[in-house]
Amino acid sequence: MNDRSAVIAPLTDWSLAIRPRARIGHTIEVHETIGSTNDRARELLDEDGGEGGVVLAEEQTAGRGRRGRSWMSPAGVNLTLSVALRPALAAADAWQLGLATALATLEACLPATPRADLGLKWPNDVVDHEGGKVAGLLIETMMSGDRLTGAVAGIGINVNWLAVDMPAEISGRATSLAALSGADVDRVALLDRLLDALDREVAGIEAGRSPLRRYRAACLTIGQDVTVEAAAGLLHGRAIGLDETGSLLLQVPGGQVALSSGEVASVRPEAPA
Ligand code: BTN
Repeated sequence: MNDRSAVIAPLTDWSLAIRPRARIGHTIEVHETIGSTNDRARELLDEDGGEGGVVLAEEQTAGRGRRGRSWMSPAGVNLTLSVALRPALAAADAWQLGLATALATLEACLPATPRADLGLKWPNDVVDHEGGKVAGLLIETMMSGDRLTGAVAGIGINVNWLAVDMPAEISGRATSLAALSGADVDRVALLDRLLDALDREVAGIEAGRSPLRRYRAACLTIGQDVTVEAAAGLLHGRAIGLDETGSLLLQVPGGQVALSSGEVASVRPEAPA
C-alpha cells in the first residue's frame, strides 16, 4: 500500500434526509457550488411541485445575510439551505414565518449540543449563552395584495466550523455546534431534524397556532440591556418583550418603542458599565 495514496473523503449522502411523502423536503437539490440557495429556491417556487423543495449547497459564492450583509461559510462543513414555501397565510401574518423557522432551527440544533444551552437572539438568530452565533435566517416573502404568495426560508447553521478556522472578523461573535459540543456533528441528521421541525412549525402557524409564547420563552434578548441599530438611529434600552406581531419592545429613557425586524439592522448587548 502506497502511504502517499490520496485519501478520498466520503461524499455526504444528503438523500438520507429526503422525506418523500412530506410537504417539506420531498426533494433536496444539492449543489457543490451556487450563488445563493435563496435565489434558486425562489426559482423553484415557479416550477410544478417546487413548494416544499429544499436547495442545499456545500458552498455559496454569494451567500446573503439580513440587511444586505453577506453570509460567510466555508465549503463542506456547515449547513446552508433554503426551503421554497407557499404558506397559507395572510400577508399580515407573514412575520410568524421567521419566528416559526427560528424555533425549528433551534429545535434541530439542541440535540447536537447536549452540554450547551442555546436560545434565540431576536429576531431570528440561534445563539449560545455568550451570544455566539450558531445560525442565522434570511426569510424572503412575496406578497400580492393581502395574501402571502410565496416565501423562501434561507437557513445557515455553523456546524463543523471550528473557531480556529473562522476569519478574525467573525470569530469573536460566531460559534458552531462542533465548537460547543467538542465533537463533529452529523450534518445529515441535523438536516433531517430541521426539515421535520420546520414542517410542523409551518403547519402550526397555518392552523392559527401562534409561535409567540414559545418564541418568547426561548428568546435570550428579552431582559437584556441592548444597543439597537434602527432606521431611526442608535437606540439604547432594555428589551422587555415582544408585542403581538413579534416586534421587539424596548424600554428607552423616554418611554417604550416597538421595533419590527425590518427596521432593525442589529441588536447588540450593552457592555456592562
Ligand atoms: C443572517 O444571519 O444575516 C442571515 C443568514 C442567512 C444565511 C443563509 S445560508 C442559506 C441561505 N442562502 C443565502 O444566501 N442566505 C441564507
